[in-house]
Amino acid sequence: MSESLEAKTIGSLLPVISRRDFIKGVIVGGAAVSSAGYLFRASALLAQSSVVGARLITIDVNGQQRRADVMKQETLAWTLRHKLGLTGTKLGCDRAECGSCTVLIDGVPHYACSVLTHTVRDRKVLTIEGLANADGTLHPVQQGVVDEQGFQCAFCMPGFIMASVGFLKSNPNPTRAQLANGVSGNLCRCQDYDKILTALMRGAENMRKTSHV
Ligand code: FES
Ligand code: FES
Repeated sequence: MSESLEAKTIGSLLPVISRRDFIKGVIVGGAAVSSAGYLFRASALLAQSSVVGARLITIDVNGQQRRADVMKQETLAWTLRHKLGLTGTKLGCDRAECGSCTVLIDGVPHYACSVLTHTVRDRKVLTIEGLANADGTLHPVQQGVVDEQGFQCAFCMPGFIMASVGFLKSNPNPTRAQLANGVSGNLCRCQDYDKILTALMRGAENMRKTSHV
């Protein structure tokens, strides 16, 4: 089909609206349009995950063997949130820029939005849900956040906590600047960095007191 014929055909399928109507629609529906885009994408991906090609695999998440049907192109963040119900792992950018989706894989922080689930089959995944003890006692870094009330909306909080826990394994007694560098792969949309760092430093102190690893 030629370009002009294609444009004509598509044009004939669209309702006739004036430019004024179009602009009014964008202003009124802008927010709805952007969130609808997200929802449509989510439902498309959900539909995609139920098509032929998903493979039942077992992954070690928070010390439990979890089974899930996983597409070969599926990310760990998607599996955690939508297949295993572990929504503490947040999706911010979904493109390895914000750190909201940080989890530990074999003790090392990773962006779960940029790791394919199939690649973690022989590895141990730890999410924010697996940090506290079974009796409900918070991990020292979580306790540090509670002690200092370090976040505003807290959307970025799980990622920051997981990144800190991973960093503190290799440097349990960091300076403020070192810890800031250690979590520099995480962004906060509320830009509450000073309070966040104070909370994470308190968490590091809590960890040293309890000799938590
Ligand atoms: S959601 Fe993974 S880095 Fe932003
Ligand atoms: S506290 Fe809101 S995004 Fe970090």
